[in-house]
Amino acid sequence: MRSIRINLENGKLMGIFKVNILFFIISIFVFTKLNSPELYSQNQNQKCLICHGKPDFKLKNDDGSVKQLFVNDSLLARSPHSKISCYDCHNDIVEITAFGHKKNVNKVQCTRCHYENNPVGAPETEKYLEFQESVHQLELNKGNPNAPNCQSCHGSHDIVKRKSLSSLELKKKITQICAKCHLDIYAVYKNSIHGSELFEKNNADVPSCTDCHGEHTIKKHDDPLSSVYETKIYGTCGECHASEKIFEKYGIKSDKIKTYESSYHGIAVQFGEKTVANCASCHGVHDIRPQDDPASLINPANIVKTCGKCHPDANANYTMGKIHLNPHNEDSGSIYYISGFFKWLTLITIFLLAIHVMLDLFRKLKHKKALTK
Ligand code: HEC
Ligand code: HEC
Ligand code: HEC
Ligand code: HEC
Ligand code: HEC
Ligand code: HEC
Ligand code: HEC
Ligand code: HEC
Ligand code: HEC
Repeated sequence: MRSIRINLENGKLMGIFKVNILFFIISIFVFTKLNSPELYSQNQNQKCLICHGKPDFKLKNDDGSVKQLFVNDSLLARSPHSKISCYDCHNDIVEITAFGHKKNVNKVQCTRCHYENNPVGAPETEKYLEFQESVHQLELNKGNPNAPNCQSCHGSHDIVKRKSLSSLELKKKITQICAKCHLDIYAVYKNSIHGSELFEKNNADVPSCTDCHGEHTIKKHDDPLSSVYETKIYGTCGECHASEKIFEKYGIKSDKIKTYESSYHGIAVQFGEKTVANCASCHGVHDIRPQDDPASLINPANIVKTCGKCHPDANANYTMGKIHLNPHNEDSGSIYYISGFFKWLTLITIFLLAIHVMLDLFRKLKHKKALTK
């Protein structure tokens, strides 16, 4: 305490004191930096970047094709893997000579780190366990060369953190990922109400591929565990279409699920019946459009054909009735008024009955009093 006071009184000493503090701070800073995982991995990476850091580093194969071997480490530095080194992923490269290293480097195994309760802090991936059961992993197991592994969807050195993208950017990016292999479906989806809202109006409320199919859980559409299975799909549409919060602003009622559930088709579906109509049988799957779009399956010009898939005798008359019938909405026409009439009839009857019971009780009490007197 005292020595500090002396220093403060003496200008020259004060200067030395300042320099010392500065030196102390700098050395702590340098020390922690040298020990930071980023710097450690950057040092390790230099051993690889001597060759792979050259932008024109490529390999000519015997068949004339060219393989880029340049690695842009600034992409890696921006990725969530900035703290791990080349060795951590390409862990089968152990020996490096002046000419390079072993040929036929193994594919990177992301699940070496990404598993439940891993010690390196890779985001928990019970997701990995889910992926094991997905159609994509099952196809990989069968040896399908076109099925995606982790890096087909996520990329390699340019992986991005989920949080660094807005939900709009993420939804768009996901459709591009799936489009790499499911281009035909992407092309249809892009022109649907959901796809056109996403791409043309930058609307992030609409579903991208994974909102309906899941991310790592994707199953074949005819697998009863799939989120788009015939008896499950209405619940998947319902994630959004039952939400008043989402649909208020579009002037579309959020009662589509409730009304479906109480319709003939909906009741049958809840009993596990697959042959009845689900949301997609009437609206389409990847080509869903509003009713006033001439290409919509529920457009008046097409609806007879749509019902006709399953009701061969359907005619214009058959399709007239409202499908999403909500007796509590005025636009349900006579049903609304009839339902209203019966509601009031019931209420008034109960009211009159109650009065009747009370009067009766009152009369009996009076009678009893008269007798006891
Ligand atoms: C002396 C130069 C040199 C160094 C240093 C070097 N590499 Fe290579 N690397 C090569 C050459 C050459 C090839 C092409 C091998 C072949 O297929 O013939 C290659 C290929 C690869 C491939 C496979 C590319 C593919 O898909 O076929 C990977 C992955 C790779 N290197 C990673 C690394 C990592 C990680 C390090 C650091 C631990 C490293 N390399 C250090 C020269 C080098
Ligand atoms: C997060 C894991 C990860 C890290 C860290 C990583 N790589 Fe890769 N790298 C991959 C994946 C994934 C591939 C694609 C091939 C595959 O599936 O194995 C790849 C491919 C490559 C290739 C082949 C050419 C290409 O771009 O496809 C080279 C060369 C390479 N890496 C070198 C490096 C070097 C050098 C570093 C360090 C600066 C590094 N990698 C760090 C995952 C990683
Ligand atoms: C050596 C261990 C290791 C390997 C191998 C590895 N990762 Fe990671 N990964 C991590 C760690 C640790 C983090 C968390 C980094 C952080 O949050 O600072 C991470 C983060 C991620 C994230 C970001 C998650 C988020 O927050 O959005 C993704 C995506 C990811 N890894 C995918 C992959 C893929 C795909 C591969 C294979 C190409 C792979 N990882 C290989 C250790 C690894
Ligand atoms: C069919 C494409 C696909 C495959 C294959 C895939 N993923 Fe993902 N993954 C996604 C999508 C889409 C997301 C969500 C958006 C995002 O974070 O990029 C995601 C998210 C993640 C996340 C980060 C966020 C979180 O929720 O924790 C990690 C980590 C991850 N995946 C790791 C893996 C690993 C490891 C594998 C391989 C076992 C794998 N993924 C296979 C599509 C895929
Ligand atoms: C609004 C929900 C929804 C969205 C968004 C969606 N799908 Fe689908 N998808 C479904 C339903 C429902 C089925 C099942 C159709 C059936 O039963 O015939 C399906 C079936 C599939 C199938 C298998 C059947 C086939 O036709 O080959 C694939 C592959 C597929 N979707 C990929 C995608 C891709 C890729 C995207 C994004 C571009 C996407 N889906 C977006 C609901 C959706
Ligand atoms: C690297 C290519 C590749 C990528 C990327 C990819 N898939 Fe697939 N997918 C396949 C293959 C191959 C199959 C199995 C064969 C088939 O049924 O088409 C498949 C099957 C499916 C199926 C089951 C098809 C059925 O018959 O029901 C769905 C659903 C699906 N993928 C959705 C997606 C979605 C959503 C994405 C994006 C998150 C995606 N896929 C990304 C290649 C890919
Ligand atoms: C991620 C949320 C989400 C999911 C899941 C979803 N939708 Fe939508 N859907 C929307 C939004 C938001 C709109 C409104 C777009 C607009 O009109 O601007 C919409 C619009 C529609 C429309 C057009 C309404 C009109 O007249 O304009 C129909 C029909 C529709 N969806 C049916 C479905 C069906 C069927 C499913 C399931 C197979 C489904 N949606 C799944 C969010 C979703
Ligand atoms: C039997 C055929 C059929 C089924 C099943 C069906 N719909 Fe509809 N849907 C229609 C018809 C017809 C209309 C237009 C007239 C109406 O509202 O009844 C419509 C209208 C809609 C609208 C637009 C309403 C508006 O205000 O523009 C949405 C959104 C919608 N349905 C979603 C769904 C969802 C979600 C499901 C599944 C829970 C579903 N539909 C099931 C036939 C069907
Ligand atoms: C995917 C097939 C499918 C589609 C599409 C479909 N339905 Fe149905 N619907 C059924 C089945 C199955 C039943 C059960 C009774 C039967 O076999 O007729 C049923 C029953 C009904 C019933 C109740 C009783 C009866 O037998 O008449 C009505 C009303 C009905 N559907 C109207 C419609 C209308 C209107 C449409 C078009 C907007 C439509 N359905 C589209 C499969 C479908």
